Amino acid sequence: MSAFVTLSSGQRMPMVGLGTWKSSPGQVKQAVLAALDCGYRHVDCAAAYSNEQEALRREEVFITSKLWNTKHDPGDVEEACRTSLAHLGLSYLDLYLMHWPMAFQRGKELMPRREDGSICYSDTHYRDTWAAMESLVDKGLVKAVGLSNFNARQTDDIIRMARHKPVVNQCIHLCLRSVAVCVTAYSPLGSGDRPWASPDEPSLLQDPQLGVIAQTYQKTPAQLILRWHVQRGVVCIPKSVTPERIKQNLQVFDFSLSEDDMKLIESFNRNKRFIVPAVKGDVDELIQTAGSQDGRVDDV
Ligand code: A2P
Repeated sequence: MSAFVTLSSGQRMPMVGLGTWKSSPGQVKQAVLAALDCGYRHVDCAAAYSNEQEALRREEVFITSKLWNTKHDPGDVEEACRTSLAHLGLSYLDLYLMHWPMAFQRGKELMPRREDGSICYSDTHYRDTWAAMESLVDKGLVKAVGLSNFNARQTDDIIRMARHKPVVNQCIHLCLRSVAVCVTAYSPLGSGDRPWASPDEPSLLQDPQLGVIAQTYQKTPAQLILRWHVQRGVVCIPKSVTPERIKQNLQVFDFSLSEDDMKLIESFNRNKRFIVPAVKGDVDELIQTAGSQDGRVDDV
């Protein structure tokens, strides 16, 4: 059974949840059932994963979903949330995140593009989107709201203006902890199955140094990495569709890492960003907009 973190909203969030990004429709339902069977009580979903219809139909589990970039217009936010609720068969979400700080052009396309292939952004500012998300809390559709892929400055910006403070910022696996907002690490295992992974890039789970440390604890490299996260207070959502791995990924509360090993693993930080929300061609554009600026909108 997973340990919990208490969010600033007072909610208790299990520190290990099942990730569903990249789990194909047809696989995700079995994965969720396997996870619930072995004790998971936290599932991470998103409209953009296009598999929410299968992800879950149970209310006793901590469920996160995410507002996609094409739904940032304040007039679209409630409908987008209601669509996720309908897909999941739920009456409320425990947590609803803004998936990225930048807005895309409204509409049905997940990745709206111009003829030249570039992404069509919209000028909607994340602060206006946030205000619309806060209304979802007022209406009881979500218990809490949070952020994903926001940098520290953007997070502070939201904290300053928020009526309902963000309780979580979900970011890439080796991100630093930010003040007052719980961090959830997505792709904690290095996301080797992401569609744009290049075959010659080093695999986190095959790292020989990690393998050696893992052996000393009689754990797998995946368990070592997950333990490192939870031991520093970071929630993680490893994705797997393999029952044995799903089970293994929750077995990280029966050992602890020495201070030296914690530091050693910390030193592996390569300052490299592995994840972007689209295919390879979008990488630079999205990193530029998500990582440092506010998309197409001027900063204050
Ligand atoms: P699979 O889903 O086929 O079991 P991340 O959470 O960083 O996105 O990583 C997901 C990838 O890691 C998937 O390819 C998943 O494979 C694999 N994976 C998940 N858990 C483990 C584990 N315990 N050992 C090895 N690979 C794992």
